[in-house]
Amino acid sequence: MRFLAEYLMKAAYKTNCISNLSVCDMVKKNKTSPDNAKSSIWGGRFSSGPSQLMKDINASIKFDRRLYRQDIAGSKVHASMLATSKIISDADCKAIHQGLDQIASEIEAGSFIFSGALEDIHMNVESRLAELIGEPALRLHTARSRNDQVATDFKLWVRDLLDSIDEALADMQAALLNKAETHADLLMPGLTHLQTAQPITFGFHLMAYVEMLGRDRGRFADTRSRLNESPLGAAALAGTSFPIDRHMTASALGFDRPTANAMDAVSDRDFALEFLAAAAICSIHLSRFAEELVIWSSDQFGFITLSDAYTTGSSIMPQKRNPDAAELVRAKPGRIIGSLNGLLIVLKGLPLAYGKDMQEDKEGVFDAADTLGVALAATTGMIRDMTPQPDAMLEALKTGFPTATDLADYMVCQLGMPFREAHNSSGAIVAAAASKGLELEDMSLKDLKDIEPRIKPDVVGLLSVSGSVAARTSFGGTAPNEVRARIADARQRFAIG
Ligand code: ARG
Repeated sequence: MRFLAEYLMKAAYKTNCISNLSVCDMVKKNKTSPDNAKSSIWGGRFSSGPSQLMKDINASIKFDRRLYRQDIAGSKVHASMLATSKIISDADCKAIHQGLDQIASEIEAGSFIFSGALEDIHMNVESRLAELIGEPALRLHTARSRNDQVATDFKLWVRDLLDSIDEALADMQAALLNKAETHADLLMPGLTHLQTAQPITFGFHLMAYVEMLGRDRGRFADTRSRLNESPLGAAALAGTSFPIDRHMTASALGFDRPTANAMDAVSDRDFALEFLAAAAICSIHLSRFAEELVIWSSDQFGFITLSDAYTTGSSIMPQKRNPDAAELVRAKPGRIIGSLNGLLIVLKGLPLAYGKDMQEDKEGVFDAADTLGVALAATTGMIRDMTPQPDAMLEALKTGFPTATDLADYMVCQLGMPFREAHNSSGAIVAAAASKGLELEDMSLKDLKDIEPRIKPDVVGLLSVSGSVAARTSFGGTAPNEVRARIADARQRFAIG
């Protein structure tokens, strides 16, 4: 009972709630002597408690409280397994379950008092459990360490995150597919180097992003499949001498199997790195799309209008409608790539097994999750709301000789010229048109024949932008019927109704 008394002594800690010290306060605290209150969880071999500064640098509760649901789920499963394996009694297991359920309700109701002195979510929950149910709480940590506990909680959290990201990506694909379907025939210039290249359709352009998001979903799914092994029961690093059943806890928590090496189980953060890497790539896709929205919605392009819901005004210039949401999505990869870099650097050269360095794994992942979540939602909203402007798109197709490649293709197919020769001849016609201030469509047959005498009258219709687009029927090309076929196929492939 001496242990229980010590356990409950942490009430004194609790008055010393999560501190919010300024840098100056922290430096001053550094000079103070150790606190007298020893940790109720690990203070056995200590004669006095840690300094305030030690507590401050050590505490992760400010951010890892986000793991509470997973921590409680893991503890309940662990307790059930301990009871089934006859390591604790059924009565203790029942009390632990009831106490943990109550803690979950307290946290959800906002009445739970988180304590910085209790370091992290695991010790906050366990201490409250001891307050609520007494001695059985002290048996919960049998055959478990915080090392396997935190790895389990964090994996469960990232797994839930991956599932919600998949849903958000599928939503965005659905929004893109719907827009693409409506605008499968809408002509616009396709650009390379941000210069007019060839005519395409708006639907075709949007479908490029459906593919990119499909690969993102694949990367997140792949991360999930490798993540899904349970670390619980690996204990500190070496496994345990208790007759535990790791397969039972793994399957109760929805894992495919327990991890095969206890040391790897507590040291591995590949799942966090893989999530961050996939999130970084996904954020780059969103950023590229956001940049296109910024360009398309500019006064100079005017290809689309963004809705009022995703634009803001200026405090000085009354006419402004700024694409702030798109600009922010364009900027977000900075944070996500920063988190990926941060965690790579934390783990680099870290010897096995657990080191406290690894507590630095969570904030970047949480921030990347929040950042990606808001970027996905805002982008989907912009896609649903945006209105293309066909006149501006057609107007833009009147400059830049978008059908010069069609002219070269004609010379190959109808005149039997080798492509390089045809390219050269079409280039000469473009130069002549430019010097006359004409587009290819407006050049007379005589103008064309002056440069390439073999050209015949059947060239005329081929140089229109709609003719150019309609001709690109190759698999994955921009011809409207092909775009529609690919939309139908994508709905199947990505299971989007
Ligand atoms: N708060 C810690 C973390 O996030 C939990 C694990 C602590 N383990 C230890 N051996 N001190 O990593």
